Amino acid sequence: MTSLNPTSMNNPECYYKLKLPISQWLRKDLDLSWYPDVFPDYEWGEKRIWGLQYPKIDAILSDEAVEFFRSIGFESNMAGPNTVNLFRGNPGATMGIHHDMGPKFSINYSWGSEHNEMRWYKFKTSNPKTYSKPSTTGRPTDYFYPEDLIEVGRTAIDEPTLVRTHIPHHVVNYDVNNYRWCVTLRNLTNTWTWEEAAEFFSPWIEVEDAVSL
Ligand SMILES: [Fe+2]
Repeated sequence: MTSLNPTSMNNPECYYKLKLPISQWLRKDLDLSWYPDVFPDYEWGEKRIWGLQYPKIDAILSDEAVEFFRSIGFESNMAGPNTVNLFRGNPGATMGIHHDMGPKFSINYSWGSEHNEMRWYKFKTSNPKTYSKPSTTGRPTDYFYPEDLIEVGRTAIDEPTLVRTHIPHHVVNYDVNNYRWCVTLRNLTNTWTWEEAAEFFSPWIEVEDAVSL
């Protein structure tokens, strides 16, 4: 029996760990001192526990990482050409369960938090209740209630990971002392299905050891 760390196993319904030909993912001289210390509360009074900024990709990722994505023709452009999402989850923060509009996947990598998870869900019911509010990105987004959902996967995004974003998901930062930083590459005009995205990135998807039964 091969023993596998559950957080490193691919889950075709939710995520694939990527083995990219990149020795250094983040810039060695990464400087995040420009990131706002606090974000204003939402207008309805809720605290903003998950910050978001849209830096240029070369301000966050190493030159070789930038060159790799250029070479495979994948451009992140969430807020203009060659921009990435840079999320900062507060210590101990749990994001609401939602699904993203637009592209059905992104490439994520997180750091800073010693214990965090992205989790995915499917609906228990054909008629789940929703509530709508602007997401961290400011776009109106459907949020779901945990009682209508069954978890289908979870993993720490501690290596570059292809993640599914059009099914219910959220992130939990269990680390009560540290921010969870996460860089997300996403192409706004991409219309691939989740399966098509997995096919495109299949040369770099980690192959698991076979588990003997
Ligand atoms: Fe999301």
